Amino acid sequence: MKLNKHVSLAILAAGMMTFACGGGGNETQKSGESTTAPAPAEEKQTPGEKNKDNPDFVKGLALVKENDCPSCHMVERKIVGPSYAEVADKYEYNDENVETLASRVIAGNVGEWGEIPMPAHPNLSKEDAEQMVKYVLLLK
Ligand code: HEC
Repeated sequence: MKLNKHVSLAILAAGMMTFACGGGGNETQKSGESTTAPAPAEEKQTPGEKNKDNPDFVKGLALVKENDCPSCHMVERKIVGPSYAEVADKYEYNDENVETLASRVIAGNVGEWGEIPMPAHPNLSKEDAEQMVKYVLLLK
């Protein structure tokens, strides 16, 4: 009786030690992962998700859709014109670039991206053109 109790305690103790080692090791690894996980998740947000509450982005996107821009531009892929993402990579978001690019959309442009010209959009207001360019430059 006495011996039996002793043996079973020893087995229990050995079992607990194994558990403690294995469990402890896993836990350190897990907490290491969880502290680094949120950062890449945030970076993975698409520009659309990041800017969904930005009125400049939302208004600009609506105007782009109303106009002929989508027939030559896509967000991620070059079709006739450069992708918006490429344009956003090339130009910093600032007032000067917004103004320059907006006047190019209105007047038309060629030579910046290649031989194919962007036609003029003489009926666009300066405000609308700038609004659309803001949307494009936020796509980064
Ligand atoms: C018929 C095709 C076509 C349409 C429609 C069009 N684009 Fe373009 N877009 C182009 C081409 C081609 C270029 C590259 C021009 C160049 O190389 O200078 C371009 C360039 C641009 C650029 C970059 C200009 C620069 O100087 O880097 C912006 C911004 C842009 N387009 C926005 C728009 C917006 C906003 C609209 C809608 C109002 C629009 N585009 C409609 C073909 C088009």
